[in-house]
Amino acid sequence: MKIPALDLKKQIAPIRGELDAAIKEVIDHAGFILGERVERFERHVAQYCNVKYAIGVSNGTDALSLALLALGIKSGEGVICPAFTYYATAGAAAAIGAVPVFADIDKDTYNISVESVRKILARKSKVKIKAVIPVHLYGQCANMSGILKLARKYGLKVVEDAAQSFGAEYKGKKSGTLGDCGAVSFYPGKNLGAFGDAGAILTNNKSLAEKIKILRNQGNRNNYIHLILGRNNRLDSLQAAVLGVKLKYLAGWNNKRMEIAEFYNRNLASLPIKVPFVADFTTHIYHQYVLRVQGQSKGLLEYLRQKGIDSRVFYPIPLHLQECFKYLGYKKGDLPEAEIAARQILTLPIYPELSREEQDYIIQSVKEYVNG
Ligand SMILES: Cc1ncc(COP(=O)(O)O)c(C=O)c1O
Repeated sequence: MKIPALDLKKQIAPIRGELDAAIKEVIDHAGFILGERVERFERHVAQYCNVKYAIGVSNGTDALSLALLALGIKSGEGVICPAFTYYATAGAAAAIGAVPVFADIDKDTYNISVESVRKILARKSKVKIKAVIPVHLYGQCANMSGILKLARKYGLKVVEDAAQSFGAEYKGKKSGTLGDCGAVSFYPGKNLGAFGDAGAILTNNKSLAEKIKILRNQGNRNNYIHLILGRNNRLDSLQAAVLGVKLKYLAGWNNKRMEIAEFYNRNLASLPIKVPFVADFTTHIYHQYVLRVQGQSKGLLEYLRQKGIDSRVFYPIPLHLQECFKYLGYKKGDLPEAEIAARQILTLPIYPELSREEQDYIIQSVKEYVNG
């Protein structure tokens, strides 16, 4: 059997007619950037998330950078990020000249450790720390009340990286709506994926929303009046049209992912491996289903691949040890939980269209390896 990590063809097939019609409508209308379709999608996202403003942007990385810029984060100022996340979390801060300050993670949820953030803020530092980016990794929310409490105490802005958690809920509120801003990615492989790059920023703050709309469009409110130094970070109408169709299915798709995760959990529970731990304050929409093994994940990873199962490691090198962040001066051992997680985790394929037969085959294969 061959089981890919994700099968977008299977997702698209049943809604192909609707997608084709939505794309045709954009072509017939011949308006390709921002405009009515983008505004409609923004309204639907805001409704879905129960947030006042959703602003469509070019991708999740730009969503993070724009949010930081709009919040007034300047070159040379510190932005706390977890060390165990996708590059873009810290890359987006560095791209505006800010200085990533890496925090360790909670060993159970893999999300930013509030204790680690507390320690960073309590120590003397050359960089003035102005913001924190909690990442809702793999699809479950970070400990937002802990982060928000520290943010209030130290006067930090909070930008949630909700790239992997669109639709997950923290104590009944959608991820990305608890901090000053939330950054969403609609990269094709995300739970809600475009047919190219796309993203959004969520906020309940009106003046911030207005600033972000100007920033994403070259600092231009309209008619070539450039108020601030902006960027070209606009959302395409074609992507908005595709995402608008798919958004209707997202809740169902996320539920299906949760069902599959529960099936995996039930069937793997007796093995000496760690299934995902879900904190009581959050739902988990399983953008990734992540197992953790004692020692190293390499053996199980290779076995699953031999069996045709496309298991992955997100992420094999924590950010503080990446070549591109060498200039920040971190060394091995600085953030131990992130470093151990990077060695011990691996994913099992998870997506709504995964058949029960495929799920059984995956479970069987994990059991074969673990039980020898
Ligand atoms: C945690 C995280 N942050 C940021 C991003 C960046 O999003 P994008 O690829 O849309 O720029 C991604 C996704 O790729 C991500 O997984």
